[in-house]
Amino acid sequence: MEAFYWTMDRAFRAVYGKQQMLHYPLFVHAGQSLIEGQQSFSDHVVEQLGGIDGHDVLEIGCGNGEQANYLATRHHPASYRAIDLYPPHIAHAQSAAGQTGSRVSFAVDDAQRLSTVADASANAALCVESAHHYPDKPAFLANLHRVLRPGGRFAIAELVSISGSNNLLYRLTDTFCWTEPQWRDAITAAGLTLDAVDDVTERLALGLRSINGVLPGGGGPFAWLARFAGRGLIRHYRAELAGDRRYLVLSGRRPANAA
Ligand SMILES: C[S@@+](CC[C@H](N)C(=O)[O-])C[C@H]1O[C@@H](n2cnc3c(N)ncnc32)[C@H](O)[C@@H]1O
Repeated sequence: MEAFYWTMDRAFRAVYGKQQMLHYPLFVHAGQSLIEGQQSFSDHVVEQLGGIDGHDVLEIGCGNGEQANYLATRHHPASYRAIDLYPPHIAHAQSAAGQTGSRVSFAVDDAQRLSTVADASANAALCVESAHHYPDKPAFLANLHRVLRPGGRFAIAELVSISGSNNLLYRLTDTFCWTEPQWRDAITAAGLTLDAVDDVTERLALGLRSINGVLPGGGGPFAWLARFAGRGLIRHYRAELAGDRRYLVLSGRRPANAA
């Protein structure tokens, strides 16, 4: 997993000159750049959460912090905390926050423990394309329940498997996709309420067809190689969405009367 994110970091720098977010873009109009498509997807997740204005927000598996710094600036949360397991991601996120004046508080933490996050400290929590990396998803959901206030809302944007199988390539990149029924059962078992399952597979797949718009020109052999690899990765993502994977945004809440 770390080798994958290290490579993505270098490839983004070579092709775009800066970091991008680490999730699928949702292109809502023609001519959007990769980061604009990714911002549209982040806004879509926030809509599924019912908004974050005035809320104490927790982002779990925040990656390089591009999404957190964008959402904390674009919307008006009361506070915004974001955690990730990979220290270089958090180092980049903190440095970018310092440069842009974003007030996000970043920390290295494991989603399956959330040891830096106090009980009942958030009333909105989002986790975008990170949970497929967690071997112990019930521990993640138990801690999500712990850190949410009663009535607090969550949105988990995630690739799910139709068959329930994860081939060698997935296992080598620490990817363990659950099926939708597994997610539904585990969310309920954790004492959380699932309110909606938003299937965005077709919308994301449509966006990925505009591949030429998302890979700008850039000089040097490494940029060429990164573009070549990027095209391969996008083809792989398209094939995934046409095959054994669906992309869902699962949203719900910790019940208001929960103990
Ligand atoms: C595909 S990236 C998504 C990043 C970010 N959510 C975004 O949308 O740009 C997945 C992230 O999950 C993080 N991750 C993997 N396992 C984790 C864990 N157990 N706890 C916290 N973060 C984890 C990885 O380090 C990586 O940054």
